[in-house]
Amino acid sequence: MWGKIFGKFSRFGHDLGVDLGTKNTLVYVEKRGIVINEPSVVAVNSRTTEILEIGREAKKMVGKTPGHIQTVKPLVDGVISDFEVTEKMLKYFIKKVHSENFSFIPRPRVIIGIPLDITEVEKKAVEDAAKSAGARRVYLVEEVMAAAIGARLPVLDATANMVVDIGGGTTDIAVISLGGVVSYKSLRFAGNELDNNIIEYIREEFNLLIGDQMAEAIKIQIGSAIPFDEPREMEVRGRDLINGLPKAITLSDTEIRSALSRTVNKIVENIKLTLETTPPELVSDIYERGIFLTGGGALLYGLDKLISEATKTPVVVVDDPLTCMARGTGILFANEKILEKVIVLPNIA
Ligand SMILES: Nc1ncnc2c1ncn2[C@@H]1O[C@H](COP(=O)(O)OP(=O)(O)OP(=O)(O)O)[C@@H](O)[C@H]1O
Ligand SMILES: [Mg+2]
Repeated sequence: MWGKIFGKFSRFGHDLGVDLGTKNTLVYVEKRGIVINEPSVVAVNSRTTEILEIGREAKKMVGKTPGHIQTVKPLVDGVISDFEVTEKMLKYFIKKVHSENFSFIPRPRVIIGIPLDITEVEKKAVEDAAKSAGARRVYLVEEVMAAAIGARLPVLDATANMVVDIGGGTTDIAVISLGGVVSYKSLRFAGNELDNNIIEYIREEFNLLIGDQMAEAIKIQIGSAIPFDEPREMEVRGRDLINGLPKAITLSDTEIRSALSRTVNKIVENIKLTLETTPPELVSDIYERGIFLTGGGALLYGLDKLISEATKTPVVVVDDPLTCMARGTGILFANEKILEKVIVLPNIA
């Protein structure tokens, strides 16, 4: 049956792997690699509903738009919140890939990642969005699974592959063995929540209002889970909430670390809870093989060390954690056998 469903999956060179993220959308094309890597943002003219910009160009407009332009982030907490805009964004990216090289080839088949713990309705929305964006056939794969495959973990073996994917909107913690997820926790917060922690801290301590992009820049430059070797500082500008005027302050890494700690600790606690619900044989594999961190949040300085200390387990940040999942779809294209085993609800037309 599977042979029939999948056909010669890898014969055409134009099938696509999509990482439809809260923060970033990546498209992998077989034999070419990642060809799209753009923010999941769309600028819409709210008078005419016309799409003005998509991706990087739209992101430049965030927080700077006049009344009739709206920048929409169509995914919230890992799931589609604005179906129409998601569909248009995907259509734009798929078209871009297609028109560059493959205009004469039929519509592509698409592997697309979904978070753990999403509802059937949310799953269906991802599938429908990909279909109406031009996919001939859609294959859903759990994002943690694709990321594990991207990190070249032996997901089909009878051993534990523990993956923690910290994205913009979701943190997925999973233990994979024999091609399936054995135990997991899916949290609807991740990098965006860390940014919010910074915004709140600065508002409460300094009566200063800063934007999302500034908060993210602070997190990336001076944010950490453990102290740096050398202290870091950053000058931050925003609007004084008392007199409404621009104001600059200097922040230290210590302050930001403490602002982030509540969310960071919640992630650590949930990793521990997941270990507690994992069968002992697998826990012993994890103890030996380690926990693999992926997604952009894995880049928070010292998070690997902190998790390692809290769980007494080795922790590895995968190579290039922001593209790991998309690269995993590429490996799936080349390995039908793995694809058959890890697919979620194949779309049998
Ligand atoms: N160097 C860094 N340090 C800390 N965080 C970082 C760093 N680089 C990127 N990030 C964060 O990683 C997050 C984006 O990661 P990623 O692209 O994996 O998310 P996503 O796949 O779009 O979201 P999701 O999987 O939740 O739908 C953002 O919150 C971003 O701020
Ligand atoms: Mg992601």
